[in-house]
Amino acid sequence: MLNIKNLKASVGDVEILKGIDLLIKSGELHAVMGPNGSGKSTLCHVVMGNENFTHEGVIEVNDKNITNMKQNERYNSGVFQSFQYPVGLPGVTLLEFALNINPELTEGEISELAKKFNVVEFLDREVNVDLSGGEKKRCELFQLALSNPNIALLDEIDSGLDIDAIKSVAELINKNRDSKTSYLIVTHYSRILKYLEVDQVHIIVNGKIAKSGSKELIEEVDSGGYTQY
Ligand SMILES: Nc1ncnc2c1ncn2[C@@H]1O[C@H](COP(=O)(O)OP(=O)(O)O)[C@@H](O)[C@H]1O
Ligand SMILES: [Mg+2]
Repeated sequence: MLNIKNLKASVGDVEILKGIDLLIKSGELHAVMGPNGSGKSTLCHVVMGNENFTHEGVIEVNDKNITNMKQNERYNSGVFQSFQYPVGLPGVTLLEFALNINPELTEGEISELAKKFNVVEFLDREVNVDLSGGEKKRCELFQLALSNPNIALLDEIDSGLDIDAIKSVAELINKNRDSKTSYLIVTHYSRILKYLEVDQVHIIVNGKIAKSGSKELIEEVDSGGYTQY
């Protein structure tokens, strides 16, 4: 569960998030949509504890206050972020990385999970090096499953993907959903949301939630764009 109360975030003197309230209950999937530069990535970064931003307000994960925690403590409290542009880790294979993410798993268990996420062929290759966009996103979701978080922040997991890759990424998210993990999915476009069970949609404009609602909001955005908010 993720509970955010009156979250404000700034870089230097510039306020980017201007008071966000958001409750994502355990197992729910919420979509955050909005125009470029509205603060969607900032919201993910600030929940993850990125130190480029100063913030005020309250962030709770499963009733634990993580507002003043450092990034690694937040990770240990069950916050996982997948990046819009996953970074490569030259010199580290995906298998080594996987063993590091979840040391309790055996190599056999990791291989099984890798099959589920269609990343077996990447296990002995360097993390995110020379992979296509879709392959990187599958690896990100594999890492998500390994870390078994309470809250997964997926920032534009659909960006740069062709329609088939978007569908397969959505299928992997669906396969992995359970009653424990909450999802915050950031996207510009409705395409990926058509394949997901979305509990709530939030439209962020200029650092604030302009409107929240059910799946119908996706249609509203599709037909009227973001200028209506
Ligand atoms: N590190 C930063 N330094 C200065 N401004 C930033 C920084 N990160 C984000 N911003 C600004 O904050 C606003 C929101 O950015 P962002 O959260 O990336 O938007 P979105 O993901 O919705 O496109 C933008 O105007 C962006 O330029
Ligand atoms: Mg962004």
